[in-house]
Order: sequence, then structure tokens, then C-alpha cells
Amino acid sequence: MSESTAPVLRAEGLVKTHHGEGAPAHAVRGVDLCVARGEFVAITGPSGAGKSTLLHLLGGLQRPDAGSIWLDGECTDGYGEARWAVERRRRIGIVFQFFNLVSDLSVADNVELPALLAGVPPRKARAEREALLAELGLAGKERSMPGELSGGEQQRVALARALVNHPPLLLADEPAGSLDSKGTREVMRLLSRFHQRGQTILLVTHDARLASAADRVISFFDGRIADDAELDGGPPPRRTGISGVLELKD
Ligand SMILES: Nc1ncnc2c1ncn2[C@@H]1O[C@H](COP(=O)(O)OP(=O)(O)O)[C@@H](O)[C@H]1O
Ligand SMILES: [Mg+2]
Repeated sequence: MSESTAPVLRAEGLVKTHHGEGAPAHAVRGVDLCVARGEFVAITGPSGAGKSTLLHLLGGLQRPDAGSIWLDGECTDGYGEARWAVERRRRIGIVFQFFNLVSDLSVADNVELPALLAGVPPRKARAEREALLAELGLAGKERSMPGELSGGEQQRVALARALVNHPPLLLADEPAGSLDSKGTREVMRLLSRFHQRGQTILLVTHDARLASAADRVISFFDGRIADDAELDGGPPPRRTGISGVLELKD
């Protein structure tokens, strides 16, 4: 498969069991997934379904017990920590529920850091940062520290940081999970806007209403894909399974 036609992300047979205290948690129990360039996919399901584990596998933050992941057609099986860190700078932006900003760096430095680490010249990193912060309604906050911002503002900074290197894929794990309704609307509106401009997005959320912003909704249950449906005039659903879990648009 050539680079240009390969899906941004492909996973086959992913399995992950957590061994903590008590019984092992079979978080991901055999997942196949393909995300095409430009898609906005939501993965939704109840708390404990294994959504975050799946996202961590896809972003190389955890290793699967079995299965493989391809980025732009390239198999990641042999990737170690360092290589995944490079891919997260170049090809995968990630936003989390709790922002994970560096608390003693300014807003500007938080956003520029991944660009500088990727070897982008400082002047260009600064220009990218300025453009993104303006776009996200944060012009004038460059010198603020993360702790001085509202939750919604911090999440917008995290979004800028995730997008500063123009990654082909954005992974978002409950990006509105700690925000009030205004912050939630803001973040969802921004995700939709970036998607309209071609950004490929994989959003994980327990909230089926937020999932309906995507054009494809995967319902995840007990470590497995239970349903995978295209919304709003897409092709017919590829699979049917548990029904009534999703709150579809119409
Ligand atoms: N690091 C971990 N150690 C042990 N158990 C974990 C760990 N992470 C997740 N789990 C367990 O795996 C299951 C799936 O969790 P998670 O992937 O966080 O689901 P979700 O994001 O859908 O709420 C849960 O039973 C959870 O308790
Ligand atoms: Mg989770």
C-alpha cells in the first residue's frame, strides 16, 4: 500500500490486559480499526469500557499484549519508547481530560515546546504558536501560566500544543471531561472546525451527545467494538451490534 492511500491509522487484533492489584482488567479484547484521512471518528462507551486504554495503545503510550498498529501504512511493531515519542511529535497530537500542560512554563512555551523538540526553527515555532493561539481565541494569554487560566482556556492551549506540528492524526481522550458546559461547547466547536479543514480526529468520550459531532461513531463496550456507524448520509453501517447505545443525530 502506498503512503498516500494508506489509512492514517490501522489497528488489528489489539489486546491489552492490565495487571494491577486484584483481578486482571481485560481492557481491550481484540480490536480492529481503520481510520481514513480526514475522518472524524468518535469512540463512545461507558466508563471502564477500555476507551482510554485503546487510545493509549494507538498513541504508543502503552504497548499492546497482542496485535499491531500501522501509522500511514507503516507498521509500528518494532517501535520503542523513543521512536513513539518522535511519532507523537510528528504524526500524532494528543489531548487529555486534564490538559497535562507544563505548569511552570508559560502558555507560549507550552505550545512552542513540541515544535522546538521536533527541530522547528524558533522563529517558525513562534509564528505557528501565534497563529494557533489567535485562532483558538487566546491571543494576549501568551505570557500567562496555565494555572491562571480557566479549564476551557487550558484545554485550548493543550489543543494548540497538540496541533502545533500539524500532525496527520489528533487523538482526544475525554477532552471536555473536566469542563463546564461552555468549555465543552468551545472545545467541540473547535474540534469540528479543525475537522472541516481536513484534520483527522479520533475522539474518545463517554458522552454520546458529544460523539454525535463526529461523522462516524464507534460504540465500545467491554473491550470490544460493539457498533460502527457512519452518521448523516454516509455509507450504511459496517457492523451492527448493540443497538440503542448511541444517540444518533436523526
Ligand atoms: N493502569 C491500569 N492498571 C490497572 N487497571 C487499569 C489501568 N488502566 C485501566 N485499567 C482498568 O481497565 C479497564 C478499562 O479502563 P479504561 O481504559 O480507563 O476505560 P474507559 O476509558 O473506557 O473508562 C477498567 O477496568 C480499569 O479499571
Ligand atoms: Mg477513559
